[in-house]
Amino acid sequence: MNIRPANRISQIKPYFFADLAKKIARLKKKGMDIIRLDIGSPDLPPKDFIIESLVEASRRPDMHGYGQPGGSASLKKAIADFYMKRFGVELDTEEEVLALIGSKEGVFNLNNVYINQGDLVLLPDPCYPVYGVGALIVQAETYSMPLLSKNGFLPDLDDIPEKVAKKAKLIWLNYPNNPTGAIASLSYFEDVINFARKHEILIAHDAPYLDVCFDGYQAPSILQVPGAKEATVEFNSLSKVYNMAGWRVGMAVGNREVIRLLQTYKSQSDSSIFKPIMQAAETALNGDQSWVYERNLVYQRRRDLIVDTLQMLGFYLEPPKASLYVWAKIPEIWDDSISFCETLLEETGVSVTPGVVYGKSGEGYVRISLVTPVDRLSEAMERLSVWIKKKV
Ligand SMILES: Cc1ncc(COP(=O)(O)O)c(C=O)c1O
Repeated sequence: MNIRPANRISQIKPYFFADLAKKIARLKKKGMDIIRLDIGSPDLPPKDFIIESLVEASRRPDMHGYGQPGGSASLKKAIADFYMKRFGVELDTEEEVLALIGSKEGVFNLNNVYINQGDLVLLPDPCYPVYGVGALIVQAETYSMPLLSKNGFLPDLDDIPEKVAKKAKLIWLNYPNNPTGAIASLSYFEDVINFARKHEILIAHDAPYLDVCFDGYQAPSILQVPGAKEATVEFNSLSKVYNMAGWRVGMAVGNREVIRLLQTYKSQSDSSIFKPIMQAAETALNGDQSWVYERNLVYQRRRDLIVDTLQMLGFYLEPPKASLYVWAKIPEIWDDSISFCETLLEETGVSVTPGVVYGKSGEGYVRISLVTPVDRLSEAMERLSVWIKKKV
């Protein structure tokens, strides 16, 4: 059979972590003990009351049919109430809130509803790879905004040429940031909104780490900037904040035209979320939030262990105030993050992510995630220390 696939798929490579999983499976088969510090999937479960809500809802006979497209009215209300409580942001439950099957779905599909072939999308570099692949699948042009240490890993808006800004239709932002762990202030968001207004650009703020914060820091929503909704959609998620990554539930909030179009698109392309998951998500958002703070302290301790070890070994890094990641510059003797990570994995069984996977400005860095218990993390840091000391 010689049936040619669509041209656009030929440009899309398998997700980095899918290939890495195969390599790790091969090493495990050889008997190697692997410690994975590469993925961003929380290792801890959600709080019991959330699981109980799922179980209780699953037992009900009326909870197994298709869910309401775009999310149940009560989940959308829980999202709007959460935004009011947490950020003081008022959302119209009907027109400014949409439930998603995990935020990745909305992040990807935004391209399908807003971007035509040849339109220009502004992408942070490094960034969550889905922004770029989403642009690629609709055959958009992209312009990379380097995230540099000297700018606090924020795009330098003054560095974007006027011609590019004029042509751009969409700008992606993500704070707290994956992979750099950087944060953005409300005044930075205000600058982006002014820039986007001037050039008529839609802002997509991808914010699944808003409540994974340390050292007392509280991350702002971009929607806290007065007038933000005019030009902004924010994606948020229960995956990281409530340890619910596999449950697949997230949200898009903000600009009502974006919400309306995403909702229309989704009504044709999916059939909503499992009702008990929506109920449990509602329970998570409406319920006691103090356990999230306690859980963040667990991540904070892990962060400190990684930061202390890496700094002692001569890596340059800023201890992150939020997100699930430490972003560290590897010592000078390596200039290639892929070979650093491959050799480290093969020789020690410790897996970290090469920065270049997130874009060319990520070269020279590695991303180390916080989702491993302290005993295994200590073991990984010990192996890394012995290995590095032998190499330098
Ligand atoms: C920046 C960023 N956006 C979106 C997602 C997807 O999250 P979800 O599980 O809500 O689809 C991730 C997951 O790693 C992420 O890091």
